[in-house]
Amino acid sequence: MSRFKELMISKARQNNSRIILALDVKGEVESRLERALTILDEVHQKIASVKINFHLILPFGLEHLRPLLKYCSEHRLPIIADLKLNDIGSTNEEVASLLIRYGINAIIANPIAGFDEGLASLVELSSLDKLGLILLVYMSHKGAKETYSLPVSETEKLYTVFADKARLWRADGVIVSSMSKELIQDVRGRVGASCMILTPGVGVQGGDASKAISSGSDFIIVGRSIVESQSPLAAAETFRVLAPFYMKQSHPDNL
Ligand code: XMP
Repeated sequence: MSRFKELMISKARQNNSRIILALDVKGEVESRLERALTILDEVHQKIASVKINFHLILPFGLEHLRPLLKYCSEHRLPIIADLKLNDIGSTNEEVASLLIRYGINAIIANPIAGFDEGLASLVELSSLDKLGLILLVYMSHKGAKETYSLPVSETEKLYTVFADKARLWRADGVIVSSMSKELIQDVRGRVGASCMILTPGVGVQGGDASKAISSGSDFIIVGRSIVESQSPLAAAETFRVLAPFYMKQSHPDNL
């Protein structure tokens, strides 16, 4: 099992939670990091992992996010960089080495870049256990069906190609929309039991957390429903109860 996966499972067990907190703090830039830290400190015992996105990475950069990264490392909270990286190999390599330098545990990348001179370096780093690799297989917003469902042959669609790549490249995880049970089941069948399925779109976007887990997803990604709540702690607890690590009827392929 990869180090990243071990970290995810260990925190999920400890907190009995399958929540990945999308720490998407908006509004005034100057106070964002401080607000992010306050929310994180409030909910850290309710979550399994933290995901950072452009909301924090653009204004601060990894250098100024050190207090947040330190907090995660001290609390053994795995941290995922949601860059949806989609570039040439040499750029991907540089991005990965910076993420590793700052103690990030995993990156989200876009399989559309392909392997040769594309994601090969990320695949290698994940096989060496240096940086976890999570691939976008099917996004959860409405427009996703315009592309991810495109047929590429008589039997395959774009997302099935991505799911098969995830298995071939032994990705640590895949992102799959929470909007359809059949979709999660289809992707689970393709990626196998050892690849984590991470599901966004619950809460504000209307997806159902417990349905996603019972369909075969391992973790739910939750942003605004917690971060923008009057009480992030209460909101996190609501989702934790819907997606605890220890579930009686979770899908047989779940972690
Ligand atoms: P919300 O506020 O909708 O935040 O809970 C979701 C977070 O996950 C990121 N993200 C995605 N969101 N479909 C999504 O809806 C996807 O496929 C996806 N991939 C990543 C999103 O940017 C936000 O940080």
